[in-house]
Amino acid sequence: MTSFYLSTPHQPPKPPKKLPLELPWALFGGISPQQFMKQYWHKKPLLVRGAIPAFALAKQNDEYLESPISYSELIQLSEKEELESRLIQSKPWRFSHGPFTKKRIPKLGDSNWTLLFQGMEAHHPAAATILSWFRFIPDARLDDLMISIAGIGGGAGPHFDSYDVFLIQMSGRRQWRISEQKDLSLNPKLPLKILQSFQSEQEWVLEPGDMLYLPPHIAHDGIALDSGCQTWSVGFRSPSFKELLQEGLWRLAESLEDIPNLDQRFADPKQNATANPDQLPEELIKRLHEEVSKLQLNQVNRFLPGITAYLSEPKPNAFFTGPVPSLSPKSFLNKLAKQALIPSPQTRILSFRKQVFCNGEEVTKDQPNNVVAAWETLSANRSLTAKTLKNVDKSSLYEAYLAGWLIFEKR
Ligand code: SIN
Ligand code: CO
Repeated sequence: MTSFYLSTPHQPPKPPKKLPLELPWALFGGISPQQFMKQYWHKKPLLVRGAIPAFALAKQNDEYLESPISYSELIQLSEKEELESRLIQSKPWRFSHGPFTKKRIPKLGDSNWTLLFQGMEAHHPAAATILSWFRFIPDARLDDLMISIAGIGGGAGPHFDSYDVFLIQMSGRRQWRISEQKDLSLNPKLPLKILQSFQSEQEWVLEPGDMLYLPPHIAHDGIALDSGCQTWSVGFRSPSFKELLQEGLWRLAESLEDIPNLDQRFADPKQNATANPDQLPEELIKRLHEEVSKLQLNQVNRFLPGITAYLSEPKPNAFFTGPVPSLSPKSFLNKLAKQALIPSPQTRILSFRKQVFCNGEEVTKDQPNNVVAAWETLSANRSLTAKTLKNVDKSSLYEAYLAGWLIFEKR
């Protein structure tokens, strides 16, 4: 790191309300998100020099931009229970899960270690801002922002991921080597996923502000060249069809509670004396056939609300704390007229058509029209200011505020 420059933390700008999907972005090296999706997404790697131009601009003015989050802030976070952190040490490979006491963490000047912090958007507004620039990809696919900090030589080792990733260099330099090799077998003797044999095909040194996009299954190895090297990874998720269908099916099963007719019991006045008492009765099969047809289980629409609910579940270690003191419904409405209500950083909101799901619950179910409209706005814009809302007392909107799922934006 160049320490003789004046150093200030980079403050990532907030994206505009409506992302310009057709205009060229520096983040993608001068192509639009639309072109990026067509040419690169899920297809081939893309290296972007100066994806965040602020870093190079600062350098021209003899200034030095640092990561928005300092080394000491990150080290403090590694002691937190609610943050998913991992320590990877190489030579030899070792791996452990956080939280970590200060003593457990190698010193900045030590070599061959990296600390990885998952879900950073919930812990630092700059991480949430960086993530929000990627909202041209569906929320159902966006997972989280991971930050790694490393000593010289540190890295996760040569591996592949099953997901797309944007690797943004935020501090120090990192050498990236990548390969489209077919052999993705892992070394069974190691405690973490390291490729048995890695044959680098391309390599680059990324400087702060540079970005590398990798589609799934591209072998890669990133090695820190400077102590305090920070890489911010925008990560995605893509559940298997098994997972989606299982989750959709059991939620559909739960929703049968709402169909009173199904409480009716099977009756068999037409049952004959049977010579095969061990067999499931034909009459029962016939009646079940009728009930199953009524449920239209062959219609995917029957599963989609449950699947959306599942995908809107927050991460397992998410925590929410309600406001103390909380506002009365009346004061809540007064504040909402002036200040934006936004999802707390760990809240997930997803919509299936007009149904809105927040943190696994269908929040538009049995709600008055104005509350439904408020949720639709929150889902689309991740922000709501409303001057005309009324009677929110028992509404899902006010409840979500009391639960800490929705918070007022700090000004
Ligand atoms: C990192 O070391 O910051 C990135 C981890 C990865 O390669 O996915
Ligand atoms: Co990776």
